[in-house]
Amino acid sequence: MNILVTGGAGYIGSHTCFEMLQENYNIIVYDNLSNSSLEALKRVEKLTGKKIEFIEGDLLDIEKLEEVFQNEKFDAVIHFAGLKAVGESVQKPLKYYDNNVTGTLNLLKLMQNHNVKELVFSSSATVYGVPKELPLTESSPRSTTNPYGTSKLVIEYILEDLAKSDPEWKIISLRYFNPIGAHKSGEIGEDPNGIPNNLLPYISQVAVKLRKNVNVFGNDYDTKDGTGVRDYIHVVDLAMGHVFALKYLKDSQEQGFIPINLGTGNGYSVLEMIKAFEKASKTIIPYQIVERRDGDIAECYADPICAYNKLGWKAQNSLEDMCQDAWNWQKNNPTGYNKK
Ligand code: NAD
Ligand code: WQD
Repeated sequence: MNILVTGGAGYIGSHTCFEMLQENYNIIVYDNLSNSSLEALKRVEKLTGKKIEFIEGDLLDIEKLEEVFQNEKFDAVIHFAGLKAVGESVQKPLKYYDNNVTGTLNLLKLMQNHNVKELVFSSSATVYGVPKELPLTESSPRSTTNPYGTSKLVIEYILEDLAKSDPEWKIISLRYFNPIGAHKSGEIGEDPNGIPNNLLPYISQVAVKLRKNVNVFGNDYDTKDGTGVRDYIHVVDLAMGHVFALKYLKDSQEQGFIPINLGTGNGYSVLEMIKAFEKASKTIIPYQIVERRDGDIAECYADPICAYNKLGWKAQNSLEDMCQDAWNWQKNNPTGYNKK
């Protein structure tokens, strides 16, 4: 099976490419490398002993993307490409809407024109906004708190309308909770640009002494210990979710827009994450409590049963595995790719 993977050089994309190659999919990655390094895919090729066709290109460059569709016949598309920094999206909303929404529209138009109607889309738990109920199910109400989140929700609306307009479309919108960790080999992992926005990469950089201490954004939330609670999921489990989704698209009769949560169903607090990472890395992680971060929610975790019922997928890795593997990657690559 020939699969186009947009954004395949990124954090989740590279781990998914690894798992897809293990299952003998033929992969064509289209990525502008705006937030990733080609080194990630080279390492995936080395680990698997298999080739990935890489095309450096932007989703906004519709002529280049058209060429890709003219040259190859795809069975399905996995669409990771997008910008994801919440804070930056507040500063530069047009950049986010253009890249994420226009980029997706370009992709969808070409898919339609070339009769490729199977898609796995990278959505996010951010489409649930401030949760009205926990755990979050696929039918929980949607809303957003920042332009990044709105770009994901707008794309979901577009995908729903598209699926309604033409019953041949099969679209799985995977709503990721909080992906962390790295491949067991320690060869691929998360390599954020500049100061990490997310908790786990920040903790990892403190562990290798690139940063002094973790700022814990508030300890007065209505949660088990006052700090924010999230559903962290191992990136390899997440990657496997895409392989299961591709199989479902091929084997199941279900058509239309199919939203599916990818989470574990467990919520851990910021302080629990720091403790778990200390244990895995045998380091001390200094931290200080600071003000709440604007736009943060208290608590968020998934009801993951739909993924199990439809796809047969369930997260396999524990919190210990996530921290151990994140640490293994960080200590082998303290400053990320290309700088080992
Ligand atoms: P990432 O930044 O590591 O990967 C995204 C990839 O897309 C990068 O390689 C980047 O170069 C590429 N890209 C961006 N804009 C592009 C464009 N216009 N044309 C071509 N390539 C482009 O991010 P990730 O963590 O791997 O996330 C993958 C997807 O999952 C994103 O859509 C993100 O919004 C979504 N998501 C991520 C998280 C998370 O916490 N990491 C959570 C929920 C959803
Ligand atoms: C987790 C917890 C913070 C950093 C974001 C996006 C979301 C999704 C995943 C893409 C929270 C606390 C964090 C730090 C801290 N991305 N924290 N100190 O906010 O759940 O989700 O990434 O779709 O859209 O919003 O993840 O890792 O940033 O934060 O105390 O330095 O850690 O307050 O409680 P979040 P996160």
